[in-house]
Amino acid sequence: MAEKGYVEITIDGQTVQAQEGEKILWAALDAGIEIPHLCAIREAHPPLGTCRLCFVEVEGEGVVASCVEPVREGMVVHTDGERAKTLRRRAMELLLADHDLECKTCVKEGNCEFLQMAISMKVKKPKNLHPFPREELPVDDSHPLIIFDPNKCIRCGKCVWVCREKAELVPFDFVYKGYDMRLTTFLSRPLGETNCTGCGECVEVCPVAALYFRKA
Ligand code: FES
Repeated sequence: MAEKGYVEITIDGQTVQAQEGEKILWAALDAGIEIPHLCAIREAHPPLGTCRLCFVEVEGEGVVASCVEPVREGMVVHTDGERAKTLRRRAMELLLADHDLECKTCVKEGNCEFLQMAISMKVKKPKNLHPFPREELPVDDSHPLIIFDPNKCIRCGKCVWVCREKAELVPFDFVYKGYDMRLTTFLSRPLGETNCTGCGECVEVCPVAALYFRKA
């Protein structure tokens, strides 16, 4: 029986107590059960839900994004169901297909959350998936502390969220929709001409090298 304000659910056969309203992803991670994720921020309401790496199967409901779906009393969750695993793999393949994997020359070499996630999921860049070529955009090094490389962005949205919610600034946002969607600076101004204070919250959450600190 769960304590007041908590519910009891089962994840991969393990009984887990989670706070009412908590998302499956965080209930699982708190219990030591891994689910791939790149865009999730616990305090984000609503969740960003952009990477689609966190699919799980819920008995009686089917496949859900675990960072979006709240826990409910008696819920039975499987992280290793074939449908969820296939969708997670496909989501990672799409991200990899669209990402320049010149890791040897990347500032995040050896420290890239995105690459580490792909390796842990055992997913490689697919050879038969060729997205439309993207226009190479200039690297923005106008800010005294932070460099913005829009070409590396995987559109997770974490930087947009932390700038707004934690730093209460709006230096970044997305423009366009669908495949053309991309991260840009406020009014497409150079980052150094926005109200970015260089607090570094965006660099901390960026899972790739789209935002990084200038070397001293
Ligand atoms: S972690 Fe759930 S969609 Fe990204």
